Amino acid sequence: MGVVIAIDGPAAAGKGTLSRQIAETYGFHHLDTGLTYRATAKALLDAGLPLDDETVAEKMAREVELAGLDRDTLSAHAIGEAASKIAVMPKVRRALVEAQKAFSTRAPGTVLDGRDIGTVVCPDAPVKLYVTASADVRARRRYDEIIAKGGEAEYDDIFADVTKRDERDMGRADSPLKPAQDAHLLDTSKMSIEAAFQAAKSLIDEAL
Ligand code: C5P
Repeated sequence: MGVVIAIDGPAAAGKGTLSRQIAETYGFHHLDTGLTYRATAKALLDAGLPLDDETVAEKMAREVELAGLDRDTLSAHAIGEAASKIAVMPKVRRALVEAQKAFSTRAPGTVLDGRDIGTVVCPDAPVKLYVTASADVRARRRYDEIIAKGGEAEYDDIFADVTKRDERDMGRADSPLKPAQDAHLLDTSKMSIEAAFQAAKSLIDEAL
């Protein structure tokens, strides 16, 4: 059983970039658990299946292959929205959490990022980070990212999306987004990517 680094936080907080950097630095496997919800949602959308049938969604969740997950093919806004809708379903969560827990045992260690890693998936992880930033900063970062890739976006729409998704993720009954009691809070609102990484690295080095 390897070491687990659990990273949680709201949409667009910079968890992904941070998790990848940490995994690379420590030579650990990385799983972006948001992609497991997104892949389930995409499979339902592609098959023209409803997003409100828990049994059908659970079946799709059980077919998700962790090895094939790729953010580029799952980044569409509609997929993120659909993912957060099916993420409220306990049977979908149970199926995906099972696969995530299995992943977390890989040696020499793993970094898992999501919404419920420190609270539900890996409650015994020796290092838990809760990465956040103000809704305005997160919306601004997502906006800049889209524009940098040559896309089009309205800042106000993105801000509305980010806050709506926060509400859904924090308000659901099963595994709501919240910091684990023993998580270290990392507010990156005023930090560069490098500063956030250095802060995370110090916390990890202290704990391992
Ligand atoms: O992180 P990302 O935005 O890709 O996640 C998409 C959606 O999947 C989130 O809004 C959330 O509803 C859900 N999710 C979750 N638990 C996780 C990871 C993601 O409920 N561990």
